[in-house]
Amino acid sequence: MSDSQLEREVARRRTFAIISHPDAGKTTLTEKLLLYGGAIHLAGSVKARRARRHATSDWMEIEKERGISVTSSVLQFNYRDHAVNLLDTPGHQDFSEDTYRTLTAADSAVMLIDAARGVEPQTIKLFKVCRMRRIPIFTFVNKLDRYGRAPLDLMDELEKVLGIRAWPMNWPIGMGPEFRGVYDRRLRVVHVFSAEGRHGESEVAERSLPIDSEEIKTVLTDAELRQLKEDIELLDVGGDEFTLEKCAAGQISPMFFGSAMTNFGVRPFFDVFLELAPSPTPRALYGGGKREPTTPKFSGFVFKIQANMDPAHRDRIAFLRIVSGRYTKGMSAYHSRLGKEVRLANPSQFMAAERTSIEDAWPGDVIGLFDPGQYRIGDTLTEGERIEFEGVPRFSPEHFAIVRAKDPLRRKQMEKGLQQLAEEGTIQVFQQLSMGMKDPIVGVVGALQFEVLQYRVQAEYGAHIVLDRLPFQLARWVVGPHDPKSFDWEGNRQTVTDRDGKPLVLFRDEWALNHAQEKYPELRFLAEAPQQHPLDRAG
Ligand code: G4P
Repeated sequence: MSDSQLEREVARRRTFAIISHPDAGKTTLTEKLLLYGGAIHLAGSVKARRARRHATSDWMEIEKERGISVTSSVLQFNYRDHAVNLLDTPGHQDFSEDTYRTLTAADSAVMLIDAARGVEPQTIKLFKVCRMRRIPIFTFVNKLDRYGRAPLDLMDELEKVLGIRAWPMNWPIGMGPEFRGVYDRRLRVVHVFSAEGRHGESEVAERSLPIDSEEIKTVLTDAELRQLKEDIELLDVGGDEFTLEKCAAGQISPMFFGSAMTNFGVRPFFDVFLELAPSPTPRALYGGGKREPTTPKFSGFVFKIQANMDPAHRDRIAFLRIVSGRYTKGMSAYHSRLGKEVRLANPSQFMAAERTSIEDAWPGDVIGLFDPGQYRIGDTLTEGERIEFEGVPRFSPEHFAIVRAKDPLRRKQMEKGLQQLAEEGTIQVFQQLSMGMKDPIVGVVGALQFEVLQYRVQAEYGAHIVLDRLPFQLARWVVGPHDPKSFDWEGNRQTVTDRDGKPLVLFRDEWALNHAQEKYPELRFLAEAPQQHPLDRAG
């Protein structure tokens, strides 16, 4: 391999995730990106596809029953010169820690907003994780084919609710049935879409004309043109300069308008997104320093583990994000935590649910490794180097329950099941500290994970479990000079320990957290588990 090949492959890659609230149109937009990328030829209606998915996806009954995807997959496709990795995050309102964790493998995010609904609760949560990870966030305002809120209003909301300034890269012409096109502010060009084929099965026809051209008057009415010019003037006067640095630093979010359903604005968005979004970025190493993607030696980290995708095989798949170098089929790698060489068996790359074997992969790509139980989230694989990437954090769960085996004789099986699901990162298991309280507490990010937990422990370990929900909403790891075990149980909080014996306090709500913070100003209450060197991890 020549280094220039590595550089080329890195430069053309874009690895990102779409963050949104359910129903904003993520499935629809994803499908349209695949359509424009040539990965599919005709976009079906979301409904038809859902019906098909019921028929084909059978790895977990819950998935079928609910008609939602419980786990996330990675879509890889080419778009013009780019290799695109779209990390699909579970988007149902009962989302999980996986949704958050997937963002640690992304180099940028697209925040999808329903024009009528604006910023919604799940968008806010995911936005905060992107902020913590310091990745650039692009905004796509969807459903312009319906009447929604005024674009200026939405810009305002982003600033007020999320604290990020939106910088419109394009501006919509009309809304609802009068949504005609978008104006590209950098090129000063109007893209007008053809009203034919509005159901969006195939790419929409469009014409691009400079705003100052004579011809523009033949496609836009005087009123449309006047309104557009007024809007632009307002933006130009009021807004600050767009720079890539501000975008990369997460200070401004490039904003786009369109309709994933009719395809209006999808191409103008994706072209500019791919131009501005970063190629695979360097990753921080434990103990300091960074690993550049163009370093010839292969390295990567496991950000997600999924078990039993195929009920016929009861296998586990570890998802590895490549950080540097080149992966080639059949290679071995050094497993830093285990301190030994492992063969990267049966790697597959994911196109929707179909797994295909791959020959090689590059930084930014995600490969699925067959896992006989040797990987954990956060593990680093290298080409013989003793380095570790900074761990994939554990995020604060938001729902808690005490868990018991219905039949006390099946307690061992239950514990095995809990351990398995904790290793996959589906749940977090905590130990109670109060005297005589032996049953573990399980914490999850989305309440659906409780059902997943019950279903899987029963189906895979033969233990029927009972969950007693607890009235807590927040968990905070506690760092500070004194032992949080001395905290008393005051009804609105409880002290527990995590798998590494680190203390956490569970709080009933924000108010209880603020109260504790005021009472113990010398303590820090962290929403992410404090970093620990993977080699020091217990168990
Ligand atoms: P999600 O993955 O974010 O949950 O959203 P999904 O794509 O499933 O879209 C949710 C609903 O919104 C779907 O309607 C979809 O057709 C619709 N939708 C998505 N993009 C657009 C858009 O640009 N314009 C309009 N008007 N609708 C859009 P559905 O579930 O079929 O319900 P319904 O349309 O029958 O009410």
